[in-house]
Amino acid sequence: MRPIGIFDSGIGGLTVARAIADRLPHVPIVYFGDTEHLPYGEKSPELIRQYASGIATHLKERGCQAIVVACNSASSNALDSIQSAVGPGVPVIDVLQPVVNAVSLRFSRTNVGVIGTRATIESGGYQRMLEERGCQVTALATPLLAAAIEEGFHEGLVSEALLQAYLGQGTFDDVSALILGCTHYPLIAEQIAAFLPNSVEIINSAELVAEALANATGLYSKHEDLEIQRGTPVLRQFLVSDLTVSFAQSAQRFFGEEVQLEESDLWSQ
Ligand code: DGL
Repeated sequence: MRPIGIFDSGIGGLTVARAIADRLPHVPIVYFGDTEHLPYGEKSPELIRQYASGIATHLKERGCQAIVVACNSASSNALDSIQSAVGPGVPVIDVLQPVVNAVSLRFSRTNVGVIGTRATIESGGYQRMLEERGCQVTALATPLLAAAIEEGFHEGLVSEALLQAYLGQGTFDDVSALILGCTHYPLIAEQIAAFLPNSVEIINSAELVAEALANATGLYSKHEDLEIQRGTPVLRQFLVSDLTVSFAQSAQRFFGEEVQLEESDLWSQ
């Protein structure tokens, strides 16, 4: 079976890869983390488009049957470029559309919050899509969170202090739901929830994206087939454009099991 290509600026997108591996355990995966160029959240839209379409083209050339953009910064700034780079034969699943679909169905005509990198929030992507579906939107860039989480500062004093600075003023006290608009944030979802009223639902995109992928590709499997296939090893390849000890150590925290990172020579070709 041809693999699913999944990419992010770094290893945060492994939270989405985890949900895909759980939802479609029989499907091979090729993951690409552009660790050489992260953070995308601080890059210009032009540069994000250049990097993202290069990676998507590479994943298509590796034979991927569908591509998941497991990065909000790339999904909100580069989706058109990615789609035209891979052409019509390869479905591209981004992280915004499945979330907007689910949230606007459940929280229509209410105020919905979203936090993400500067590139994601400044693109206005979530705001435009949600407002078109009848939601009000409160959006806030929380640029230091992804770097802190990647550095291992999650569920501790550093992330607590950052969340106090970003969420402590009550900006999201009257939203019905808060979208975690960055694939790093699920690691601090509980800590984020503690800063908000109990009535605010936290929206993690990973499972919604995995479901959208299953729908777009028809890669469902019957339960009994999955039980048989669970015992069979499936190809899972994890490529990064710059391999460091720190990325190798962090990858496991994001994917929830041991991950063998390999260095890719994509940018030196
Ligand atoms: N994981 C990326 C996202 O979802 C953020 C990290 C970065 O800034 O590169 O936007």
